[in-house]
Amino acid sequence: MLQALNDSIKYIKQKIGDFEPEIGIVLGTGLGGLVNEIAVQHSIMYSSIPNFPISTLEFHSGKLIFGTLKGKKVIAMQGRLHFYEGYSMQQITFPIRAMKLLGISYLLVSNAAGSLNPAFKKGDLMIINDHINLQPESPLRGLNNQDFGPRFPDMSQPYHKALIAKGLKIAQDENITCHQGVYVSVTGPNLETKAEYKYLRIIGGDAVGMSTVPEVIVANHMSLPVFAISVLTDEGFPEDLQPVSVEEIIETAAKAEPKMTKILSQLILSL
Ligand code: HPA
Repeated sequence: MLQALNDSIKYIKQKIGDFEPEIGIVLGTGLGGLVNEIAVQHSIMYSSIPNFPISTLEFHSGKLIFGTLKGKKVIAMQGRLHFYEGYSMQQITFPIRAMKLLGISYLLVSNAAGSLNPAFKKGDLMIINDHINLQPESPLRGLNNQDFGPRFPDMSQPYHKALIAKGLKIAQDENITCHQGVYVSVTGPNLETKAEYKYLRIIGGDAVGMSTVPEVIVANHMSLPVFAISVLTDEGFPEDLQPVSVEEIIETAAKAEPKMTKILSQLILSL
């Protein structure tokens, strides 16, 4: 993998010259709006980068965007990769390793998720303070490269405490309803049954989604501080479960997106 990463980085560096990114951002489903805040300097299609996996969903455009946001040099992944698309966990997390090797000091992640907590309503935001991984494997399975990180990385605080506190403070100052809670990651692509939503709540989840955790595990492996935030796009409350469509999820995410963009951009300003 190291050779593959080195080839990708060599190509990216040829394109971006002396641009030195400080912050990496992964934008979730329906949440690409933050990109409009970036003064873009370089934009590279995943498909043109050697060894980069290509995003298959039509609503993900699959680009690495380099530029400045609130005066900070950022890389944004427009289009994230999901396990349900058929990629391996190593492929999904390859861009995270690449961004770390390009020099980022923070990783910010957004996603769309279903609420499991009856107090967290559709359209609200939730800063992730812990997770439960229900995806079938870890991206760290296989030989460990000690240069990246330890064989058995600690996960006692996978989301950076000070960043969570900053995010909550920004939300409060901006009058944005923003909870904190536990994100459960499942494979998807199907949504959950009533019994599954009930189970996910019982085991300690506040929100459920199909992404984020592989990236967060790899970031922790490389000692990269993480901030992650969910837009709650539907309510997985088993007593009164309504059918959900991906169109509705995207529509709700798009509506809540400006609030999330505000929190992320203020957070970036503070880093
Ligand atoms: N379940 C799983 N993934 C999701 C959901 C959900 O209810 N909403 C958005 N992503």
